[in-house]
Amino acid sequence: MNSGSNLFLSRRGFLGVAAGTALSLPMRPTRASAVDERTLRAAPGQAQLTGPDRAPTPTWAYNDTVPGPVLRLRQGQPVRITVENGLTEDTTVHWHGIRLANAMDGVPGLTQPPIAPGASFTYEFTPPDAGTFWYHPHADSLVQLGRGLAGALIVEEAEPVAFDRDLIWVLQDWRLAADGRIAGGFGSAMDAAMSGRVGNLVTVNGTAPADQSVRAGERIRLRLANAALARMMALRFEGHRPVILAIDGQPCDPHEPEDGRLVLAPAMRVDIALDMQGKPGGRYQVVDDFYDGLAYTLATLAYDKAPLRVHPLDPPTALPRNPLPEPDLANAVRQEIVLQGGMMGGGKLAGVGGMMGMSGMMGMNMKGMTMPGMNGTPAWAINGVSMTGDGHAGMAPHFTLRRGVTCHLTIRNETAWWHPMHVHGFSLLLLSRNGSPVPHRQWQDTVLLAPKDTVECAFVADNPGDWMLHCHVADHQVAGLMTVFRVT
Ligand code: C2O
Ligand code: CU
Ligand code: CU
Repeated sequence: MNSGSNLFLSRRGFLGVAAGTALSLPMRPTRASAVDERTLRAAPGQAQLTGPDRAPTPTWAYNDTVPGPVLRLRQGQPVRITVENGLTEDTTVHWHGIRLANAMDGVPGLTQPPIAPGASFTYEFTPPDAGTFWYHPHADSLVQLGRGLAGALIVEEAEPVAFDRDLIWVLQDWRLAADGRIAGGFGSAMDAAMSGRVGNLVTVNGTAPADQSVRAGERIRLRLANAALARMMALRFEGHRPVILAIDGQPCDPHEPEDGRLVLAPAMRVDIALDMQGKPGGRYQVVDDFYDGLAYTLATLAYDKAPLRVHPLDPPTALPRNPLPEPDLANAVRQEIVLQGGMMGGGKLAGVGGMMGMSGMMGMNMKGMTMPGMNGTPAWAINGVSMTGDGHAGMAPHFTLRRGVTCHLTIRNETAWWHPMHVHGFSLLLLSRNGSPVPHRQWQDTVLLAPKDTVECAFVADNPGDWMLHCHVADHQVAGLMTVFRVT
């Protein structure tokens, strides 16, 4: 069979389903050549973050758009992406969540030399898994991500999955100064030792919260990606019942979120099936209420078009599973990662929970608090070791796994803070949280730990190389919450 024409036909079929989308992000059609070629150029630019008639904000951008262009790839089809560095500092691109060769992982020093200003680097890989992924720099991460360098990477299923529409919301969080420019002060000791740089403006696909036009009766695959530096999110869809189909790109058993609240930590993605069951003409808010007392409307579902269908559809079915190797728990090697550090602040602060997330905005009185991260001391550690920065040459692996072995990994959070722990190169099967089994057969590359949580997970070490494991709150990562492990 001619796979080229086969691909062409199924692609057309898929686009037929997705036609008429209101996607505001630029999408590039994939050429039906053997190798799909793309270019990303990182350079200073500007974006209308605060609205169409407000002054643009100077940003850093891929291909002049914030977020960067949605890269739509196809499962099992090779791609070659050339990254040009138009910045005045080194950069790299990391393909977050994609299981690829170590040399293509984008960690400066560890997996490749950084891309110098004016230089370029070509990444080549074949995505094995379909799903929602993203890309971002792994050099000077706090600043480069904080100035806007991030984009969605969608890997389409080898066999198209039908929805009425396929939408993506790339969520970014900005700390803007009064003049609308991105505030300086990246890497402050307070952000580092507390919640990280939580901002004061959340954008959806690069613009301030606005209407999402929908039609009664349609079924949308909504891909949510939290590309914020530090902001945790918990989304409620007023009047709707989202069904989670995939987490971090990996399909799970379809289920509704606990309490109808969809928790999305930095770097996490969730694909939901959203059946538009609202009333024609109705308006329904999508609210983020992660931080106590600081809820805001992220978007409004606006039923401003003719209904698509009258009768509700059957419940959504599971997405096809990706070819992940099955962990062999009976013969697993055990490893433990203990998260330590952060501001200890006894008494009042330690118990405040969600409120503490807003260190950057609330102007807390910090007198008398113990604050690691001051005077350049690392704020965080993993098993007593603080690896700081973004990755560099000569980082000694914390543990080594023989290729093919199953690793049963325990992650224990001894701190008073939330940490989305991310592992490069692998997806982890979640086994238990605080002793209770995790349902729905969830695989994740980014596992959120609440204060004092213990999570157990497993993966097959089938991919050789030196791999990063770090908190995806950028301030935490660069201030010590990072480690490296080796697969030989
Ligand atoms: Cu998405 Cu090491 O990062
Ligand atoms: Cu990653
Ligand atoms: Cu963290």
